[in-house]
Amino acid sequence: MKKLILSLSIVFLFIQCKENSTEKTPNNKNLGFLADSAMVVSAREEASKIGAIIMQNGGNAFDAMIATDLALTVVYPFAGNIGGGGFMVYRTNDGKTGALDYREKAPLAASKDMYLDENGNIIEGKSTLGAMAVGVPGTIDGLFKVHEKFGTIPFSELIQPAIDLANKGVVVTKKQAERLNKYRHFFTEVNNHQIVLDEEWKEGDTIKYPNLAKTFERIKTQGRDGFYKGETAEILVNYVQKLGGIITKEDLENYKSQWRNPIVFTYKSLKIISMSPPSSGGICNAQIFKAIESYDIASLGHNSVEAIQLITEAERRAYADRSYYLGDPDFVKIPIDTLISSDYVQERMKDFSWDKATLSSSISHGNIVGYESDETTHYSIVDSYGNAVSVTTTLNGAYGSKVYVSEGGFFLNNEMDDFSSKPGEPNMFGLIGAEANSIQPEKRMLSSMTPTIVEKNNKLFMTVGSPGGSTIITSVMQTILNVYEFDLGMQEAVDAPRFHHQWLPDVVTFEPKGFDSILVQKLQKKGYKINQENSRILGKVDAILVLPNGKLEGGADYRGDDKAVGF
Ligand code: GLY
Repeated sequence: MKKLILSLSIVFLFIQCKENSTEKTPNNKNLGFLADSAMVVSAREEASKIGAIIMQNGGNAFDAMIATDLALTVVYPFAGNIGGGGFMVYRTNDGKTGALDYREKAPLAASKDMYLDENGNIIEGKSTLGAMAVGVPGTIDGLFKVHEKFGTIPFSELIQPAIDLANKGVVVTKKQAERLNKYRHFFTEVNNHQIVLDEEWKEGDTIKYPNLAKTFERIKTQGRDGFYKGETAEILVNYVQKLGGIITKEDLENYKSQWRNPIVFTYKSLKIISMSPPSSGGICNAQIFKAIESYDIASLGHNSVEAIQLITEAERRAYADRSYYLGDPDFVKIPIDTLISSDYVQERMKDFSWDKATLSSSISHGNIVGYESDETTHYSIVDSYGNAVSVTTTLNGAYGSKVYVSEGGFFLNNEMDDFSSKPGEPNMFGLIGAEANSIQPEKRMLSSMTPTIVEKNNKLFMTVGSPGGSTIITSVMQTILNVYEFDLGMQEAVDAPRFHHQWLPDVVTFEPKGFDSILVQKLQKKGYKINQENSRILGKVDAILVLPNGKLEGGADYRGDDKAVGF
Protein backbone atom coordinates (compact mmCIF):
# COMPACT_ATOMS: atom_id res chain seq x y z
CA MET A 1 0.00 0.00 0.00
CA LYS A 2 1.45 3.36 -1.02
CA LYS A 3 0.84 6.12 1.46
CA LEU A 4 1.20 9.81 0.93
CA ILE A 5 3.18 11.99 3.26
CA LEU A 6 1.29 15.24 3.18
CA SER A 7 3.43 17.45 5.29
CA LEU A 8 6.62 16.32 6.89
CA SER A 9 7.14 19.65 8.55
CA ILE A 10 3.88 19.55 10.52
CA VAL A 11 4.54 16.13 11.97
CA PHE A 12 8.13 17.11 12.68
CA LEU A 13 6.88 18.99 15.74
CA PHE A 14 5.52 15.87 17.42
CA ILE A 15 8.60 13.73 17.11
CA GLN A 16 10.29 13.14 20.42
CA CYS A 17 13.96 13.77 20.81
CA LYS A 18 14.26 13.72 24.58
CA GLU A 19 17.43 13.36 26.52
CA ASN A 20 18.06 10.18 28.48
CA SER A 21 15.19 8.91 30.58
CA THR A 22 15.20 9.38 34.33
CA GLU A 23 13.48 5.99 34.64
CA LYS A 24 15.38 2.96 35.90
CA THR A 25 14.74 -0.73 35.39
CA PRO A 26 13.78 -2.94 38.39
CA ASN A 27 17.41 -3.98 38.70
CA ASN A 28 18.44 -0.33 38.78
CA LYS A 29 19.88 0.00 35.28
CA ASN A 30 20.18 3.54 33.96
CA LEU A 31 18.10 3.96 30.84
CA GLY A 32 18.79 6.05 27.77
CA PHE A 33 16.20 7.70 25.52
CA LEU A 34 12.93 5.72 25.51
CA ALA A 35 10.23 5.45 22.86
CA ASP A 36 6.93 3.57 22.95
CA SER A 37 6.93 1.99 19.51
CA ALA A 38 9.40 3.22 16.89
CA MET A 39 12.91 4.61 16.85
CA VAL A 40 15.84 5.60 14.65
CA VAL A 41 19.36 5.97 16.05
CA SER A 42 21.88 7.46 13.62
CA ALA A 43 24.96 9.65 13.40
CA ARG A 44 22.96 12.91 13.18
CA GLU A 45 19.74 14.13 14.74
CA GLU A 46 18.43 15.48 11.41
CA ALA A 47 18.70 12.04 9.78
CA SER A 48 17.16 10.23 12.77
CA LYS A 49 14.24 12.70 12.74
CA ILE A 50 13.59 12.22 9.04
CA GLY A 51 13.44 8.44 9.47
CA ALA A 52 11.17 8.75 12.52
CA ILE A 53 8.78 11.08 10.68
CA ILE A 54 8.49 8.62 7.82
CA MET A 55 7.41 5.98 10.33
CA GLN A 56 5.05 8.34 12.12
CA ASN A 57 3.39 8.86 8.75
CA GLY A 58 2.75 5.14 8.45
CA GLY A 59 5.96 4.06 6.74
CA ASN A 60 7.82 0.98 7.90
CA ALA A 61 11.44 0.53 9.00
CA PHE A 62 12.52 -0.04 5.38
CA ASP A 63 10.95 3.22 4.20
CA ALA A 64 12.66 4.91 7.14
CA MET A 65 15.95 3.29 6.19
CA ILE A 66 15.85 4.78 2.69
CA ALA A 67 15.01 8.28 3.93
CA THR A 68 17.59 8.13 6.74
CA ASP A 69 20.32 6.87 4.44
CA LEU A 70 19.76 9.61 1.87
CA ALA A 71 19.63 12.25 4.61
CA LEU A 72 22.98 11.06 5.99
CA THR A 73 24.60 11.88 2.62
CA VAL A 74 23.62 15.49 3.28
CA VAL A 75 24.17 15.88 7.02
CA TYR A 76 27.10 13.52 7.46
CA PRO A 77 29.38 13.72 4.40
CA PHE A 78 32.17 12.25 6.57
CA ALA A 79 30.68 8.81 5.95
CA GLY A 80 27.09 9.16 4.72
CA ASN A 81 27.13 8.40 1.08
CA ILE A 82 25.62 7.91 -2.29
CA GLY A 83 29.20 7.53 -3.50
CA GLY A 84 29.84 4.47 -1.33
CA GLY A 85 28.14 1.27 -0.25
CA GLY A 86 26.98 -0.78 2.70
CA PHE A 87 25.14 -3.72 4.21
CA MET A 88 21.70 -4.14 5.72
CA VAL A 89 20.47 -6.92 8.00
CA TYR A 90 16.74 -7.10 8.65
CA ARG A 91 14.20 -8.98 10.71
CA THR A 92 10.54 -8.59 9.80
CA ASN A 93 7.76 -8.73 12.37
CA ASP A 94 7.03 -12.36 11.47
CA GLY A 95 10.61 -13.36 12.33
CA LYS A 96 11.98 -13.63 8.77
CA THR A 97 15.56 -12.47 8.47
CA GLY A 98 17.76 -11.51 5.54
CA ALA A 99 20.62 -9.33 4.40
CA LEU A 100 21.40 -6.99 1.55
CA ASP A 101 24.92 -6.48 0.18
CA TYR A 102 25.34 -3.15 -1.60
CA ARG A 103 29.08 -3.12 -1.14
CA GLU A 104 31.19 -1.37 -3.80
CA LYS A 105 32.91 -3.43 -6.50
CA ALA A 106 36.31 -3.18 -8.17
CA PRO A 107 36.05 -1.50 -11.60
CA LEU A 108 36.34 -3.66 -14.72
CA ALA A 109 39.80 -2.23 -15.42
CA ALA A 110 41.09 -3.13 -11.93
CA SER A 111 43.94 -5.62 -11.61
CA LYS A 112 45.64 -7.54 -8.85
CA ASP A 113 48.82 -5.43 -8.75
CA MET A 114 47.30 -2.04 -9.49
CA TYR A 115 48.65 -0.52 -6.25
CA LEU A 116 52.21 -1.88 -6.63
CA ASP A 117 55.25 -0.23 -8.24
CA GLU A 118 57.62 -1.95 -10.69
CA ASN A 119 59.48 -3.52 -7.72
CA GLY A 120 56.30 -4.99 -6.33
CA ASN A 121 56.07 -2.52 -3.44
CA ILE A 122 52.86 -0.78 -2.40
CA ILE A 123 52.59 2.77 -3.75
CA GLU A 124 51.81 4.86 -0.67
CA GLY A 125 48.35 6.44 -0.79
CA LYS A 126 47.26 5.08 -4.16
CA SER A 127 44.53 2.87 -2.69
CA THR A 128 43.40 5.46 -0.14
CA LEU A 129 43.56 8.93 -1.67
CA GLY A 130 42.29 10.12 -5.04
CA ALA A 131 40.50 8.67 -8.01
CA MET A 132 42.34 5.32 -8.22
CA ALA A 133 41.03 4.43 -4.75
CA VAL A 134 37.37 4.54 -5.79
CA GLY A 135 35.21 1.42 -5.99
CA VAL A 136 31.97 1.35 -8.00
CA PRO A 137 29.31 2.78 -5.63
CA GLY A 138 26.42 0.56 -4.52
CA THR A 139 24.23 2.67 -2.24
CA ILE A 140 21.55 3.87 -4.67
CA ASP A 141 21.13 0.42 -6.22
CA GLY A 142 20.82 -1.02 -2.71
CA LEU A 143 18.17 1.48 -1.64
CA PHE A 144 16.07 0.71 -4.73
CA LYS A 145 16.40 -3.04 -4.01
CA VAL A 146 15.09 -2.44 -0.48
CA HIS A 147 12.26 -0.32 -1.82
CA GLU A 148 11.24 -2.88 -4.42
CA LYS A 149 10.94 -5.64 -1.79
CA PHE A 150 9.69 -3.81 1.29
CA GLY A 151 8.82 -0.19 0.50
CA THR A 152 5.30 1.10 1.23
CA ILE A 153 5.81 4.78 0.44
CA PRO A 154 6.79 6.01 -3.06
CA PHE A 155 10.55 6.51 -3.42
CA SER A 156 9.92 10.07 -4.60
CA GLU A 157 8.51 10.88 -1.15
CA LEU A 158 11.32 9.15 0.71
CA ILE A 159 13.97 11.18 -1.12
CA GLN A 160 12.16 14.52 -0.74
CA PRO A 161 13.35 15.29 2.84
CA ALA A 162 16.98 14.86 1.69
CA ILE A 163 16.36 17.19 -1.25
CA ASP A 164 14.86 19.79 1.09
CA LEU A 165 17.74 19.43 3.54
CA ALA A 166 20.36 19.81 0.79
CA ASN A 167 18.67 22.98 -0.47
CA LYS A 168 18.02 24.45 2.97
CA GLY A 169 21.46 23.59 4.29
CA VAL A 170 22.88 21.83 7.33
CA VAL A 171 24.08 23.49 10.52
CA VAL A 172 27.66 22.51 11.32
CA THR A 173 28.21 20.93 14.75
CA LYS A 174 31.37 21.40 16.82
CA LYS A 175 32.59 17.88 16.06
CA GLN A 176 31.81 18.30 12.36
CA ALA A 177 33.71 21.60 12.17
CA GLU A 178 36.74 19.95 13.78
CA ARG A 179 36.65 17.05 11.33
CA LEU A 180 36.19 19.23 8.26
CA ASN A 181 39.02 21.54 9.28
CA LYS A 182 41.27 18.57 9.98
CA TYR A 183 40.74 17.00 6.56
CA ARG A 184 40.32 20.02 4.26
CA HIS A 185 43.96 20.06 3.11
CA PHE A 186 43.23 16.66 1.52
CA PHE A 187 40.28 18.18 -0.39
CA THR A 188 42.71 20.70 -1.94
CA GLU A 189 45.32 18.02 -2.64
CA VAL A 190 42.96 15.59 -4.38
CA ASN A 191 40.51 17.77 -6.32
CA ASN A 192 41.37 20.02 -9.25
CA HIS A 193 39.20 22.88 -7.97
CA GLN A 194 37.96 24.30 -4.67
CA ILE A 195 35.09 22.19 -3.36
CA VAL A 196 32.15 23.47 -1.29
CA LEU A 197 33.55 21.95 1.92
CA ASP A 198 37.03 23.44 1.53
CA GLU A 199 36.67 26.39 3.92
CA GLU A 200 37.47 27.11 7.56
CA TRP A 201 34.32 25.98 9.39
CA LYS A 202 32.97 26.81 12.82
CA GLU A 203 30.10 25.51 14.87
CA GLY A 204 26.80 27.07 13.78
CA ASP A 205 27.80 27.72 10.14
CA THR A 206 25.39 26.43 7.49
CA ILE A 207 26.44 24.38 4.44
CA LYS A 208 24.09 24.10 1.46
CA TYR A 209 24.39 21.41 -1.21
CA PRO A 210 22.40 22.60 -4.28
CA ASN A 211 24.17 20.21 -6.68
CA LEU A 212 23.44 17.25 -4.43
CA ALA A 213 19.79 18.32 -4.42
CA LYS A 214 19.88 18.24 -8.24
CA THR A 215 21.37 14.71 -8.20
CA PHE A 216 18.59 13.62 -5.84
CA GLU A 217 16.03 15.22 -8.19
CA ARG A 218 17.39 13.11 -11.07
CA ILE A 219 17.13 9.98 -8.90
CA LYS A 220 13.62 11.01 -7.89
CA THR A 221 12.43 11.29 -11.49
CA GLN A 222 14.53 8.58 -13.20
CA GLY A 223 14.89 6.05 -10.38
CA ARG A 224 18.10 3.98 -10.22
CA ASP A 225 19.10 5.26 -13.67
CA GLY A 226 19.21 8.79 -12.26
CA PHE A 227 22.50 7.74 -10.66
CA TYR A 228 23.88 4.87 -12.76
CA LYS A 229 23.08 6.30 -16.21
CA GLY A 230 22.58 9.67 -17.91
CA GLU A 231 23.74 12.98 -16.45
CA THR A 232 24.92 11.81 -13.01
CA ALA A 233 26.89 8.89 -14.48
CA GLU A 234 28.40 11.22 -17.08
CA ILE A 235 29.45 13.75 -14.42
CA LEU A 236 30.89 11.06 -12.13
CA VAL A 237 32.84 9.19 -14.81
CA ASN A 238 34.20 12.34 -16.46
CA TYR A 239 35.48 13.69 -13.16
CA VAL A 240 37.01 10.43 -11.95
CA GLN A 241 38.79 9.94 -15.27
CA LYS A 242 40.00 13.55 -15.32
CA LEU A 243 41.67 12.82 -11.96
CA GLY A 244 43.28 9.66 -13.39
CA GLY A 245 40.74 7.06 -12.21
CA ILE A 246 39.49 4.01 -14.11
CA ILE A 247 35.73 3.88 -13.46
CA THR A 248 33.67 3.75 -16.66
CA LYS A 249 29.99 4.12 -17.56
CA GLU A 250 29.90 0.36 -18.07
CA ASP A 251 31.00 -0.13 -14.44
CA LEU A 252 28.10 1.98 -13.24
CA GLU A 253 25.55 0.35 -15.53
CA ASN A 254 26.69 -3.15 -14.48
CA TYR A 255 26.53 -2.56 -10.73
CA LYS A 256 24.08 -4.84 -8.90
CA SER A 257 23.48 -5.21 -5.18
CA GLN A 258 22.74 -8.74 -3.88
CA TRP A 259 20.41 -10.29 -1.35
CA ARG A 260 22.48 -12.59 0.88
CA ASN A 261 21.81 -15.11 3.62
CA PRO A 262 22.97 -13.57 6.89
CA ILE A 263 25.25 -15.40 9.32
CA VAL A 264 23.02 -16.80 12.06
CA PHE A 265 24.38 -18.34 15.26
CA THR A 266 23.44 -18.80 18.89
CA TYR A 267 25.18 -17.53 22.00
CA LYS A 268 23.65 -19.01 25.16
CA SER A 269 19.96 -17.95 24.93
CA LEU A 270 20.54 -15.39 22.17
CA LYS A 271 20.15 -15.85 18.42
CA ILE A 272 22.45 -13.46 16.60
CA ILE A 273 21.82 -12.49 12.97
CA SER A 274 24.71 -10.67 11.36
CA MET A 275 26.31 -9.80 8.03
CA SER A 276 27.74 -12.49 5.81
CA PRO A 277 30.65 -12.20 3.36
CA PRO A 278 31.84 -10.03 1.72
CA SER A 279 31.73 -8.72 5.27
CA SER A 280 33.81 -10.52 7.83
CA GLY A 281 31.65 -9.13 10.64
CA GLY A 282 29.21 -12.00 11.09
CA ILE A 283 31.77 -14.81 10.82
CA CYS A 284 34.34 -13.12 13.10
CA ASN A 285 31.73 -12.37 15.73
CA ALA A 286 30.33 -15.89 15.54
CA GLN A 287 33.85 -17.19 16.17
CA ILE A 288 34.45 -14.83 19.10
CA PHE A 289 31.09 -15.55 20.74
CA LYS A 290 31.54 -19.31 20.28
CA ALA A 291 35.05 -19.12 21.78
CA ILE A 292 33.80 -17.49 25.00
CA GLU A 293 30.41 -19.23 25.25
CA SER A 294 31.47 -21.97 27.64
CA TYR A 295 32.74 -19.45 30.22
CA ASP A 296 30.67 -17.70 32.87
CA ILE A 297 31.92 -14.33 31.68
CA ALA A 298 29.47 -12.37 33.84
CA SER A 299 31.17 -13.73 36.95
CA LEU A 300 34.55 -12.52 35.68
CA GLY A 301 33.28 -8.92 35.84
CA HIS A 302 32.78 -6.21 33.23
CA ASN A 303 36.10 -5.09 31.71
CA SER A 304 38.00 -7.14 34.32
CA VAL A 305 41.50 -8.47 33.59
CA GLU A 306 40.10 -11.96 33.01
CA ALA A 307 37.21 -10.85 30.78
CA ILE A 308 39.61 -8.75 28.68
CA GLN A 309 42.03 -11.69 28.40
CA LEU A 310 39.38 -14.15 27.31
CA ILE A 311 37.86 -11.81 24.71
CA THR A 312 41.28 -10.74 23.42
CA GLU A 313 42.38 -14.33 22.85
CA ALA A 314 39.14 -15.10 21.04
CA GLU A 315 39.59 -11.97 18.87
CA ARG A 316 43.20 -12.86 18.10
CA ARG A 317 42.23 -16.24 16.65
CA ALA A 318 39.18 -14.95 14.77
CA TYR A 319 41.12 -12.13 13.03
CA ALA A 320 43.86 -14.60 12.02
CA ASP A 321 41.21 -16.67 10.23
CA ARG A 322 39.65 -13.52 8.76
CA SER A 323 42.89 -12.57 7.05
CA TYR A 324 43.27 -15.96 5.39
CA TYR A 325 39.84 -17.30 4.56
CA LEU A 326 37.56 -14.36 3.91
CA GLY A 327 36.76 -12.48 0.71
CA ASP A 328 33.94 -11.99 -1.79
CA PRO A 329 31.83 -15.19 -1.78
CA ASP A 330 31.09 -14.68 -5.49
CA PHE A 331 34.82 -15.21 -6.15
CA VAL A 332 36.20 -17.39 -3.34
CA LYS A 333 34.97 -20.44 -1.45
CA ILE A 334 34.66 -19.79 2.26
CA PRO A 335 34.29 -22.67 4.75
CA ILE A 336 31.62 -20.81 6.70
CA ASP A 337 30.03 -23.76 8.49
CA THR A 338 33.35 -24.99 9.81
CA LEU A 339 34.65 -21.55 10.73
CA ILE A 340 31.65 -20.82 12.96
CA SER A 341 31.24 -24.29 14.43
CA SER A 342 31.81 -24.73 18.17
CA ASP A 343 34.15 -27.69 17.62
CA TYR A 344 36.46 -25.77 15.33
CA VAL A 345 36.50 -22.66 17.51
CA GLN A 346 37.08 -24.65 20.74
CA GLU A 347 40.02 -26.40 19.06
CA ARG A 348 41.46 -22.97 18.19
CA MET A 349 41.14 -21.90 21.86
CA LYS A 350 42.87 -25.06 23.16
CA ASP A 351 46.15 -23.29 23.92
CA PHE A 352 44.51 -20.32 25.70
CA SER A 353 46.04 -19.79 29.14
CA TRP A 354 44.91 -17.51 31.98
CA ASP A 355 48.58 -17.09 32.94
CA LYS A 356 50.02 -15.50 29.83
CA ALA A 357 49.15 -13.99 26.47
CA THR A 358 49.37 -16.12 23.37
CA LEU A 359 51.74 -14.40 20.95
CA SER A 360 50.16 -13.52 17.61
CA SER A 361 53.39 -14.70 15.98
CA SER A 362 52.58 -18.20 17.26
CA ILE A 363 49.07 -18.08 15.76
CA SER A 364 48.12 -18.50 12.17
CA HIS A 365 44.82 -19.24 10.50
CA GLY A 366 43.22 -22.55 11.47
CA ASN A 367 43.83 -25.51 9.23
CA ILE A 368 40.61 -26.46 7.45
CA VAL A 369 41.02 -29.37 5.07
CA GLY A 370 38.93 -29.70 1.93
CA TYR A 371 36.60 -26.92 2.81
CA GLU A 372 33.44 -26.42 1.19
CA SER A 373 36.79 1.41 8.12
CA ASP A 374 37.99 3.94 9.59
CA GLU A 375 35.04 5.76 8.89
CA THR A 376 31.74 4.40 8.25
CA THR A 377 28.35 5.03 9.77
CA HIS A 378 25.71 2.82 11.31
CA TYR A 379 22.02 3.31 12.03
CA SER A 380 19.43 1.15 13.73
CA ILE A 381 15.67 1.33 13.17
CA VAL A 382 12.67 -0.39 14.75
CA ASP A 383 9.15 0.43 13.55
CA SER A 384 5.80 0.19 15.30
CA TYR A 385 4.92 -2.91 13.22
CA GLY A 386 7.83 -4.80 14.82
CA ASN A 387 10.23 -4.75 11.85
CA ALA A 388 13.89 -4.03 12.53
CA VAL A 389 16.76 -2.99 10.30
CA SER A 390 20.43 -2.64 11.05
CA VAL A 391 22.48 -0.78 8.43
CA THR A 392 26.18 -0.01 8.22
CA THR A 393 27.28 2.08 5.28
CA THR A 394 30.57 3.63 4.33
CA LEU A 395 32.91 5.68 2.18
CA ASN A 396 35.72 3.76 3.98
CA GLY A 397 38.11 6.51 5.13
CA ALA A 398 36.98 9.92 6.39
CA TYR A 399 35.30 11.58 3.37
CA GLY A 400 36.35 8.48 1.38
CA SER A 401 38.93 9.08 -1.34
CA LYS A 402 38.41 12.86 -0.77
CA VAL A 403 37.37 12.97 -4.45
CA TYR A 404 34.35 15.30 -4.39
CA VAL A 405 32.16 15.23 -7.49
CA SER A 406 31.23 18.90 -7.22
CA GLU A 407 28.71 18.88 -10.08
CA GLY A 408 26.92 16.00 -8.37
CA GLY A 409 27.49 17.20 -4.80
CA PHE A 410 28.98 14.05 -3.25
CA PHE A 411 32.20 12.34 -2.15
CA LEU A 412 33.42 9.06 -3.63
CA ASN A 413 34.65 6.18 -1.50
CA ASN A 414 38.19 4.78 -1.16
CA GLU A 415 36.90 1.27 -0.63
CA MET A 416 39.56 -0.27 -2.91
CA ASP A 417 41.89 -0.10 0.13
CA ASP A 418 39.81 -2.83 1.77
CA PHE A 419 41.27 -5.28 -0.74
CA SER A 420 44.58 -6.87 0.04
CA SER A 421 46.88 -4.84 -2.27
CA LYS A 422 49.73 -7.22 -1.50
CA PRO A 423 49.45 -10.43 0.56
CA GLY A 424 50.90 -9.94 4.04
CA GLU A 425 50.96 -6.11 3.87
CA PRO A 426 48.53 -4.21 6.12
CA ASN A 427 45.83 -1.88 4.79
CA MET A 428 44.83 1.44 6.44
CA PHE A 429 43.25 -0.48 9.34
CA GLY A 430 46.40 -2.59 9.82
CA LEU A 431 44.49 -5.61 8.52
CA ILE A 432 46.48 -8.24 6.68
CA GLY A 433 44.94 -10.03 3.74
CA ALA A 434 45.66 -13.01 1.55
CA GLU A 435 44.67 -14.39 -1.85
CA ALA A 436 40.98 -14.64 -0.87
CA ASN A 437 40.82 -10.84 -0.76
CA SER A 438 43.07 -10.01 -3.73
CA ILE A 439 41.84 -7.54 -6.37
CA GLN A 440 39.87 -8.78 -9.38
CA PRO A 441 37.54 -6.90 -11.74
CA GLU A 442 33.98 -6.70 -10.36
CA LYS A 443 34.98 -8.37 -7.08
CA ARG A 444 33.81 -6.92 -3.75
CA MET A 445 36.45 -6.03 -1.18
CA LEU A 446 36.31 -7.68 2.25
CA SER A 447 34.61 -5.60 4.92
CA SER A 448 34.41 -5.54 8.72
CA MET A 449 30.98 -3.94 8.80
CA THR A 450 28.76 -5.81 11.23
CA PRO A 451 25.11 -4.72 11.13
CA THR A 452 23.50 -7.11 13.59
CA ILE A 453 20.10 -8.03 14.99
CA VAL A 454 19.72 -10.08 18.16
CA GLU A 455 16.77 -12.23 19.23
CA LYS A 456 16.09 -13.46 22.75
CA ASN A 457 13.45 -16.12 23.29
CA ASN A 458 12.53 -15.84 19.59
CA LYS A 459 11.65 -12.16 20.00
CA LEU A 460 13.42 -9.06 18.75
CA PHE A 461 15.93 -8.02 21.44
CA MET A 462 18.43 -5.60 19.90
CA THR A 463 19.55 -3.99 16.67
CA VAL A 464 23.16 -2.85 16.77
CA GLY A 465 26.17 -1.83 14.69
CA SER A 466 29.08 0.58 14.48
CA PRO A 467 31.61 2.34 12.25
CA GLY A 468 35.32 1.93 13.00
CA GLY A 469 37.00 -0.22 10.33
CA SER A 470 38.56 -3.29 11.89
CA THR A 471 37.25 -2.29 15.36
CA ILE A 472 33.61 -2.57 14.26
CA ILE A 473 33.44 -6.30 14.97
CA THR A 474 34.75 -6.03 18.52
CA SER A 475 32.67 -2.91 19.31
CA VAL A 476 29.47 -4.71 18.30
CA MET A 477 30.41 -7.83 20.23
CA GLN A 478 31.24 -5.92 23.45
CA THR A 479 27.99 -3.93 23.25
CA ILE A 480 25.92 -7.12 23.07
CA LEU A 481 27.89 -8.64 25.96
CA ASN A 482 27.50 -5.44 28.01
CA VAL A 483 23.73 -5.81 27.92
CA TYR A 484 23.36 -9.59 28.02
CA GLU A 485 26.17 -10.61 30.36
CA PHE A 486 26.90 -7.47 32.35
CA ASP A 487 23.36 -6.20 32.69
CA LEU A 488 23.94 -2.66 31.40
CA GLY A 489 21.16 -0.62 29.81
CA MET A 490 21.42 0.12 26.07
CA GLN A 491 22.86 3.62 26.46
CA GLU A 492 25.23 2.48 29.21
CA ALA A 493 26.36 -0.43 27.07
CA VAL A 494 27.13 1.91 24.18
CA ASP A 495 28.95 4.41 26.41
CA ALA A 496 31.09 1.83 28.25
CA PRO A 497 34.81 1.97 27.38
CA ARG A 498 35.95 -0.54 24.77
CA PHE A 499 39.12 -2.44 23.88
CA HIS A 500 40.23 -4.17 20.70
CA HIS A 501 42.62 -6.81 19.40
CA GLN A 502 42.93 -7.96 15.79
CA TRP A 503 45.72 -10.56 15.76
CA LEU A 504 48.17 -8.26 13.95
CA PRO A 505 49.57 -5.93 15.10
CA ASP A 506 49.87 -7.88 18.37
CA VAL A 507 48.54 -5.06 20.52
CA VAL A 508 45.45 -4.59 22.67
CA THR A 509 44.07 -1.10 22.10
CA PHE A 510 42.18 0.53 24.96
CA GLU A 511 40.06 3.64 24.65
CA PRO A 512 41.67 6.66 26.31
CA LYS A 513 40.90 7.09 30.02
CA GLY A 514 38.58 4.09 30.06
CA PHE A 515 40.77 1.60 31.94
CA ASP A 516 42.76 2.07 35.15
CA SER A 517 46.52 1.67 35.29
CA ILE A 518 46.44 -1.29 37.73
CA LEU A 519 44.35 -3.33 35.28
CA VAL A 520 46.69 -2.38 32.44
CA GLN A 521 49.76 -3.38 34.49
CA LYS A 522 48.24 -6.77 35.36
CA LEU A 523 47.68 -7.47 31.67
CA GLN A 524 51.18 -6.31 30.77
CA LYS A 525 52.62 -8.72 33.36
CA LYS A 526 50.88 -11.54 31.54
CA GLY A 527 52.55 -10.51 28.29
CA TYR A 528 49.84 -8.38 26.67
CA LYS A 529 51.17 -5.44 24.68
CA ILE A 530 48.93 -2.48 25.39
CA ASN A 531 48.30 0.63 23.33
CA GLN A 532 46.73 3.34 25.43
CA GLU A 533 48.88 6.36 24.60
CA ASN A 534 48.16 6.47 20.86
CA SER A 535 44.67 5.30 21.48
CA ARG A 536 41.54 6.58 19.84
CA ILE A 537 37.86 6.08 20.25
CA LEU A 538 36.77 2.61 19.22
CA GLY A 539 33.58 2.55 17.18
CA LYS A 540 30.47 4.71 17.44
CA VAL A 541 27.71 2.28 18.26
CA ASP A 542 24.06 3.11 17.51
CA ALA A 543 21.65 0.54 18.89
CA ILE A 544 18.09 -0.10 20.02
CA LEU A 545 17.07 -2.49 22.81
CA VAL A 546 13.56 -3.86 23.24
CA LEU A 547 12.82 -3.68 26.99
CA PRO A 548 10.72 -6.33 28.77
CA ASN A 549 7.76 -3.90 28.81
CA GLY A 550 7.99 -3.51 25.02
CA LYS A 551 9.40 0.02 25.09
CA LEU A 552 12.47 0.79 23.04
CA GLU A 553 15.66 2.08 24.59
CA GLY A 554 18.08 3.92 22.31
CA GLY A 555 21.83 3.79 22.61
CA ALA A 556 23.26 6.76 20.66
CA ASP A 557 27.02 6.95 20.93
CA TYR A 558 28.28 10.01 22.84
CA ARG A 559 31.54 9.69 20.90
CA GLY A 560 29.82 11.37 17.91
CA ASP A 561 26.81 13.66 17.36
CA ASP A 562 24.62 10.54 17.30
CA LYS A 563 21.00 10.78 18.34
CA ALA A 564 18.02 8.55 19.09
CA VAL A 565 14.64 9.84 17.90
CA GLY A 566 11.33 8.07 18.25
CA PHE A 567 7.74 8.07 19.36
N1 GLY B 1 35.48 0.21 4.95
C1 GLY B 1 35.42 -0.41 6.22
C2 GLY B 1 34.86 -1.79 6.14
O1 GLY B 1 34.11 -2.09 5.23
O2 GLY B 1 35.17 -2.60 6.95
